[in-house]
Amino acid sequence: MPNNTNTNGDRVAIVAGLRTPFLKQGTGFRDMTTVQLSAAVVAELVERTGVPPETFTLCVFGQVMPTLDYINLAREVVLRTSLPASTVAWSVTQACVTSVQALTTGIESIEHGDHDAAIVGGADSMDDLPLGVSRRLTRTLMALQKAKTPMARLKLLGKVKAKDVVPPMPGYSVEPTTGLSMGAHCEQMIKDNGISREWQDDIAYQSHSRAARAWSEGFYDDQVMPVAAPPYKDAYREDNIVRKDSKRDEYAKLKPSFDRKHGSVTPANASPLTDGASALVIMRESKAKALGLEPLGYLRSWEYTAVDPQWQLLIGPVLAVPKALDKAGLTLQDMDIVEMHEAFAAQVASTLQAMASKQFCEEHLGLGEPIGEIDPAILNVNGGSIAIGHPFGATGARILLQGLKELKRRQKQFGLMTICAGGAMGVAAVLEVA
Ligand SMILES: CC(C)(COP(=O)(O)OP(=O)(O)OC[C@H]1O[C@@H](n2cnc3c(N)ncnc32)[C@H](O)[C@@H]1OP(=O)(O)O)[C@@H](O)C(=O)NCCC(=O)NCCS
Repeated sequence: MPNNTNTNGDRVAIVAGLRTPFLKQGTGFRDMTTVQLSAAVVAELVERTGVPPETFTLCVFGQVMPTLDYINLAREVVLRTSLPASTVAWSVTQACVTSVQALTTGIESIEHGDHDAAIVGGADSMDDLPLGVSRRLTRTLMALQKAKTPMARLKLLGKVKAKDVVPPMPGYSVEPTTGLSMGAHCEQMIKDNGISREWQDDIAYQSHSRAARAWSEGFYDDQVMPVAAPPYKDAYREDNIVRKDSKRDEYAKLKPSFDRKHGSVTPANASPLTDGASALVIMRESKAKALGLEPLGYLRSWEYTAVDPQWQLLIGPVLAVPKALDKAGLTLQDMDIVEMHEAFAAQVASTLQAMASKQFCEEHLGLGEPIGEIDPAILNVNGGSIAIGHPFGATGARILLQGLKELKRRQKQFGLMTICAGGAMGVAAVLEVA
């Protein structure tokens, strides 16, 4: 049975969505914080939708890279936009799946009868990384606050060593229980699954070519808002990672980033570190109708999965796909498009290969048949995270929005979306435009 339904058939609709441009770390948004990007997109989305702000009694938002500046991003968003102070707000996190988690949490709250309408989404700025201090330095700083005499303070400071002031790297770079970076895990998957460099570069090239074409066709125009960032000379209107003149032969020339000797993950076939925010408006179908709004579509079903990080860190979505399809009462053949998050091209290749493999599906899913092959012609037809970028918390809502828009453009009904996530998690969901 689909997740998104209730006894009187009043589903929760996705009514509108918007995102900021996705900009490469260290470029246009380097002086903006995650909360500023989040508030900018929510404020603009509420205004564009024309729904009275007090309609939104819930805001669920998420970021993957935490900050020390506040404890609840969603609430900070409410307090920085036209949403009323009475809007309750909580933050969620599930690595790269974060804004899908925000959406399904929002849908469940509405289904449960607690709310009629909500704003959901996510954001991340890789330019707003709060670097911490080492544990030894933390202890010294805490002790300093309690030290009663200048001499006691001097004594404590005298104990600080050079290595104590080197900040530890933020958590996105290493999977805590394995000690390996995402890129290193991806290299392991490449070896386990025998994924060629050529296939990876083909996927990456296609991501850029299709994203560039989509931008030139105006596909993204109403999905991406202009954002004026300090020093406010101009507004950023487009993603700045997409290569308009990408050349396939240049991909093969790049050196691997994570395993310099034997690896094949390069800056071109990995998603880059990115700044951005995305948000969606969701509400009860009947409420949308009453407000004269036409739904963009629905999340018909979803399934979250988790596997052992020591195995294949980014393979989770393969295990989720058959369950999400089952809940939707549909098969892979019913899918008109597929939106697959591209953490790395090799993870996309591994997912496609595993879904088509009888052996993998038998061994790991207990299925008698493979899930099936995905026609490359319907996969990430407007580009994916490699070309568009991947501000972790914002990616899910970006994928949902463009998936629904593409289904509508094609006048088709169903789409599959998958996202892998740190911690060896993943989600698969079925989008529906009806
Ligand atoms: C892979 C990674 C390390 C690369 O970082 P980087 O070395 O700073 O990458 P850059 O953008 O500077 O690119 C390096 C070079 O490759 C080139 N390049 C990148 N993409 C290219 C493409 N599509 N075609 C041709 N050249 C390309 C750049 O122009 C640059 O060339 P230059 O050195 O001559 O200027 C970084 O993007 C990363 O860490 N990504 C993974 C993030 C991650 O773990 N995500 C989690 C997934 S869930």
